[in-house]
Amino acid sequence: MNLKILILPGDGIGAEVTSAAVDVLKAVAKKFDHTLELSEGLLGGVAIHKTGTPFPKETEELCQKADATLMGAVGLPEFDAAPPSQRPEAGLLGMRRVLDVFANLRPVRTWPALVDSSPLKNHVVEGTDMIIVRELTGGLYYGQPRGIDENRGFNTMSYTRKEVERVTHTAFKLARNRRKKVCSVDKSNVLEVSQFWRKVVIDVAQQYPDIQLEHMLVDNAAMQMVLRPTQFDVMLTENTFGDILSDVGGILAGSIGMLPSASLGETKGLYEPVHGSAPDIAGQNKANPLGAIGSVAAMLEYTFGLMKEATAVNDAVGKVLESGKVTADLRPKGKPATTTEVGRAVSEAI
Ligand code: IPM
Ligand code: MN
Repeated sequence: MNLKILILPGDGIGAEVTSAAVDVLKAVAKKFDHTLELSEGLLGGVAIHKTGTPFPKETEELCQKADATLMGAVGLPEFDAAPPSQRPEAGLLGMRRVLDVFANLRPVRTWPALVDSSPLKNHVVEGTDMIIVRELTGGLYYGQPRGIDENRGFNTMSYTRKEVERVTHTAFKLARNRRKKVCSVDKSNVLEVSQFWRKVVIDVAQQYPDIQLEHMLVDNAAMQMVLRPTQFDVMLTENTFGDILSDVGGILAGSIGMLPSASLGETKGLYEPVHGSAPDIAGQNKANPLGAIGSVAAMLEYTFGLMKEATAVNDAVGKVLESGKVTADLRPKGKPATTTEVGRAVSEAI
């Protein structure tokens, strides 16, 4: 099979982790006899530097041409004071919107080898295996009106029926191949938009009588995730809540550097680790590449339907974790491994 993939390294540690992930892709292509058609583009702060805008037209064309896009990270401290529309992050948000990747799948699992890496007690995190389905192209991130002036700043959280329906279908379909449980997270004790969300989720659930549906308020959900994370199978939630709760997921997985994600729409797939650009360790070969590598596994599964290949990547990650060769964020007992060492070990294990 020919795999047409766009690589967008982005900012900070993005270049290092995507480079390791591309090596893993090459190892997969070699082993399973696929051809790779790779292209590379600019997104985020690097794109602002080189073109004046965080999501240049050329990048948009490149991602429309590719079957799937792998993004590293965006964000640079020098833009901290810039308005949202002129920040590196605006590039990523623009791309998500243009590709219409409305469902962001963020699996959170505690690998047996990483039980000690989490700051939470072992018996709490052991066996965690959940997936957060975060709505990605609506809510506060995109709502109008929005603005800032001398005496007021404001944003709008709004969802249409269609927006809630489509991501709800994604969550219920996923649950069918898992433990058949969906927990929808909202703030319906305060927000109209959440009451609407809950109502539409209940409507859609009628089509999935085999799936058990539960609702949880977002404040309680944050607490339950660290109290008893194994209760969750599929967690469905809107954009902002999903952003926040998936960082909590990083604590369950041992480090946010472990978390991969897949952003899916009707046609395109965008794959991005959950972590940010980590400017404090950028360029030092210290970043954990496993979030990016896990995102490659997700790409093989969801865009290309290559289950065997995806499993090979995940199994290789499992082996490397068992070997103890992990980066500093996972608090290894011995000397931490570098980004390149971990990447090479995964490629070799394939
Ligand atoms: C994430 C990130 C992004 C988001 C930022 C970089 C815009 O935090 O993917 O979780 O908020 O969606
Ligand atoms: Mn985030």
